[in-house]
Amino acid sequence: MVVVAILAAGRGTRMKSNMPKVLHTLGGKSLLERVIDSVKPLSPSRHMVIVGYEAQSVQAAMESIPGLEFVEQTEQLGTGHAIQQLLPHLQGYQGDVLVLNGDVPLLTSQTLLKLLQTHQSNQNAATILTAQLSNPTGYGRVFCDSENVVQQIVEDKDCTAAQKQNRRINAGVYCFRWQDLAKILPDLQANNAQKEYYLTDAVTQVTPVMAVDVEDYQEILGINNRMQLAGAYEILQNRIKEKWMMAGVTLIDPTSITIDDTVELQPDVIIEPQTHLRGNTVIQSGCRIGPGSLIENSHIGENVTVQYSVVTDSSVLAGTRIGPYAHLRGHVEVGEGCRIGNFVELKNSQLGDRTNVAHLSYLGDTTAGTQVNVGAGTITANYDGVKKHRTQIGDRTKTGSNSVLVAPITVGDDVFIAAGSTVTEDVPNESLAIARARQVVKSEWKMKKE
Ligand code: UD1
Ligand code: CA
Repeated sequence: MVVVAILAAGRGTRMKSNMPKVLHTLGGKSLLERVIDSVKPLSPSRHMVIVGYEAQSVQAAMESIPGLEFVEQTEQLGTGHAIQQLLPHLQGYQGDVLVLNGDVPLLTSQTLLKLLQTHQSNQNAATILTAQLSNPTGYGRVFCDSENVVQQIVEDKDCTAAQKQNRRINAGVYCFRWQDLAKILPDLQANNAQKEYYLTDAVTQVTPVMAVDVEDYQEILGINNRMQLAGAYEILQNRIKEKWMMAGVTLIDPTSITIDDTVELQPDVIIEPQTHLRGNTVIQSGCRIGPGSLIENSHIGENVTVQYSVVTDSSVLAGTRIGPYAHLRGHVEVGEGCRIGNFVELKNSQLGDRTNVAHLSYLGDTTAGTQVNVGAGTITANYDGVKKHRTQIGDRTKTGSNSVLVAPITVGDDVFIAAGSTVTEDVPNESLAIARARQVVKSEWKMKKE
């Protein structure tokens, strides 16, 4: 049985931010959410989050995650002091506690499971995760004897010049047998450079203690400043891109592409340069996305192409071509084999299969049937200054260039709208609507004038 405790009470002074450090985002998710995600596969019996600086906003930001218990540390007197706050909540608890820093977001669940297994199979009082870093600056240094038993953990700020040479660092991830830790926690002292109660001091006051090196040091990188945040983003991106390339996705110029880890890609998708895939996006097989496109929270069916376009909160079915320079937003649904062309904006609209909106149009709050041809420059006037209204367009209807459909309006099936019309009344099936002044031609005008 394991209880998870995440330290998230610090301000994160080195971020130079008004926002609590653990709420800074890394690839679409906050640092804290990432840490919470990493412990899920351990099925902890309780998830405790220690909050302090801006406790309310941290708690509010985690609202959608069920089962979290927030414990307040009103003054941030150090990581040991933070864990002391658990004492009243875990009275009599006989199992283990896995402690994680809220600012170490790249840990994998496999590493945590391995740490927990090592801890339990060796019946340790404490097991800590360590790493060998070429640049250990800023981290606590871990000193072990030849048997890997931890002798001492010295914070960077407390290190002597000689101690600073030690490259083995404390990752800030610990398993404790709670009863052993609870016994010594109240006696922690703050005799150090930062006048803080260090959790690291508790580690060496219980026995037996073991240190386990992480296989990939990148997992344990802590975020204390914006440089480290950017560094972690790069590591995360490399992980995600490697995964998709190994799964059959082509990335052309990968460094110019960004992909959130919430995105799903199928084999034989091609992502072109300068393309960004975000949120809950799914891209099916055979698509060619980019160059220069942003797809966010959208579902893209098979064999779709998207060039220099922005698609958010929308879905596009198989074989449709989008762009260049199209913008789909606010719950657009485009059918199969459609063409959404240059300088077209679609908002909260549904288009049937094989419908084309090829040039210079705005369709807002519109439902159009199948095989509709929306002529160049067609606009739906959906806003009367107070409310939005819907436009309905039937199957196989064609709107002429530069026509305006003033909503609310229903245009039937097989209708023709003459070019340049401003249509304000419903048009029944199979008719032609002309809504513009008749052309007047004054013959021989030039001669008469002269
Ligand atoms: C800590 C470790 C260090 C380790 C490093 C790994 C201690 C004393 N040092 O140092 O050995 O190498 O993490 O990243 O533990 N926090 C609270 N309450 C507090 C203070 C901090 O909840 O009173 C939280 C912070 O929000 C943060 C985490 O604890 O999420 C770590 O605090 P931080 O100040 O970043 O510790 P480091 O100096 O990085
Ligand atoms: Ca830190």
